[in-house]
Amino acid sequence: MTKNDAKAEIKRLSQEIRKHDKLYHTLDQPEISDYEYDQLFGRLVALENEFPELTTQDSPTQNVGGPILDQFKKVQHKEPMLSLQNTYSADEIVEFEEKIQRQINDDSPVQFFCSPKYDGVAMELVYVDGILERAITRGDGSLGEDVFNNIKTIASVPKKLTGSKPPPRLDVRGEVLLFKQEFLRINDANDENGLPPFANPRNAAAGTIRQLDSRVAKSRNLQMFCYSLGFSEGFDPESQFEFEEHLSKMGLPVMPCSSGSEVSQKALSQICTGSQQVIEYYKNIEKIRSRLDFEIDGIVVKVNSFRLQKSLGKIARSPRWAFAAKFTPEQAQTIIEDIVVQVGRTGALTPVAIMAPVSVGGVTITHATLHNQDEIDRKDVRKGDTVIVHRAGDVIPEVLSVLKEKRPKSSKAFSLPAQCPACGEPAHQEPDEAVKRCQNSLCPAVMVESLKHFVSRNALNIDKLGARLIEVFFDKKLIQKFSDIYKLKYEDVISLERQGEKSTTNLLESIAASKETELHRLIYGLGIRFVGEQTARTLAQYFKTVDAFLKASEEELLALPDIGPRVTKSVTTALAQPRFQSEVRELIKVGLRPKAIKGVSASQSSKFANMSFVVTGTLPIPRNEVQDMIRQAGGQVGSSVSKKTSVLVAGDKAGSKLEKAEKLGVSVWSWDELQKQINDI
Ligand code: IVH
Repeated sequence: MTKNDAKAEIKRLSQEIRKHDKLYHTLDQPEISDYEYDQLFGRLVALENEFPELTTQDSPTQNVGGPILDQFKKVQHKEPMLSLQNTYSADEIVEFEEKIQRQINDDSPVQFFCSPKYDGVAMELVYVDGILERAITRGDGSLGEDVFNNIKTIASVPKKLTGSKPPPRLDVRGEVLLFKQEFLRINDANDENGLPPFANPRNAAAGTIRQLDSRVAKSRNLQMFCYSLGFSEGFDPESQFEFEEHLSKMGLPVMPCSSGSEVSQKALSQICTGSQQVIEYYKNIEKIRSRLDFEIDGIVVKVNSFRLQKSLGKIARSPRWAFAAKFTPEQAQTIIEDIVVQVGRTGALTPVAIMAPVSVGGVTITHATLHNQDEIDRKDVRKGDTVIVHRAGDVIPEVLSVLKEKRPKSSKAFSLPAQCPACGEPAHQEPDEAVKRCQNSLCPAVMVESLKHFVSRNALNIDKLGARLIEVFFDKKLIQKFSDIYKLKYEDVISLERQGEKSTTNLLESIAASKETELHRLIYGLGIRFVGEQTARTLAQYFKTVDAFLKASEEELLALPDIGPRVTKSVTTALAQPRFQSEVRELIKVGLRPKAIKGVSASQSSKFANMSFVVTGTLPIPRNEVQDMIRQAGGQVGSSVSKKTSVLVAGDKAGSKLEKAEKLGVSVWSWDELQKQINDI
């Protein structure tokens, strides 16, 4: 193909793909199957690989993760979402109670319902007749955005309320969060994919909720805690306590309320009588704050009785019956002693600030990643600077700002080196990536980090072979590649400093034990770019054996669920390297026996194989998604009921199809039955 032909074809394919992106993402009316879409995409990728100079910035291949659309639908809250009066001091907690007592002319202690103030994104869930119909962001309090497609991916948010008599209408509010661990995982993945990290779990949650492609939200483990009532019909609890109990019974996620006088990590809400108990509560929560799985930034205190809440009313945009007591942020001041450059497993050069040790929220920090050159330039961080640091997500040390007035006169701006500091090869930066990388696959830093990844917990899980030992074995040239790990001999290990008989035996045993592994662990451990744990599982479920995986073709990969052109390209590139192939085969030779995990494979029979389904009526999730669920479980989906139909999945208001199925004796499943059958697989 000539360059001119290629140019015309790239243009045509790009236009076509954009059209289908719009049909799929914006209009929810795809005209072609995912497979056909991936074929188009694959052709574009192949052409751009052949003629890299023809790849434009706005090519669909440069926009992985779905197109960024302008907007979500704007929706009115039936009751406005109010904000809270804030304080930062215990004294004001006393004043708050006194004000209430004056207003109601009663000076007996007030009963409060206290909860953590979750640092996430406020959300309203709208249930009509027990079915989740909308999920609306707070927006400006009266007008929010409908992010239903993302919120319905949250496992703990029921699409349908439990119980036989749901209220006709229930608007319930809560906070959507990402737990600290999940935030770290997402940032690691972003780092691996050359994307900028999120600053904290709240930003990551907000960014996830605002994604227009709901597959992103699905791949991130969002959580929710419900805590307040909006508009409702046929639902009249008497207090906050009772309200949350009802929510819990209906299957909604709420924070359990502690029954004793002290909160526990699992039951962080509490009823407090009088301001002194609230102050105790505030102190207790602050004490355990850094050990919680998620971020909080204070407590929220509500008058427990709904009757009393009503009589207290609101001022401007805040209720008089609730307020937030915030914690002072955990920050500290220190000096940057040096900026060093680390080389990661993917070759990424990461600048890291080495700081004078300082305590933040009870933990001493000495290092903080500065991510990349853009980030350094933005914050203008230099060696010798006095900086404010905190722990993002209560875990990752982060430089917040520089105190420029304290900067030494001699200070110079920092630039990442042009060469890899570990091997001296030139470092390279893709135009659309923020990260500079060493591309030398034999770079010692890349090799050591790859080995550490291979033995890590979610890969081969060789727990006795820690990072320090890997470095020692690497330096002594005893381990240079994965398979060398399995060739270590007793004499090699015992000859090391500080290595006794017992620890040597333990190490060799933990290496031997890792031979009985699972295929997805091995695939993940190989460290192919963009192949995270989830993708490794998908690959392992489908290919089942190392041999089949090593022979994977582009077409097969593209046809797999959740595997796009970018992963496909990365995997096929790895598989095309003789060194990669021989190393994996060597691993099998030295005794690795990876088993495939159970799962539904595209080629294997499954519970729904040879079964044809028709879906009708109103279901809790869109019909095309129900159909996808069935296909993923191996079933076929048709549009009309006939004698050949195995099952009719019937939602509410199922009409003629249900009648026909009953006449023909075709089995009819409810939504619940379908879910049960799928989960049984
Ligand atoms: S109750 C009338 N409870 O704080 C307001 N809010 O500044 C009722 N928040 O927008 C809200 N944790 O996003 C309530 N346990 C909790 C909360 C909480 C966090 C947020 C919420 C609200 C903001 C108010």
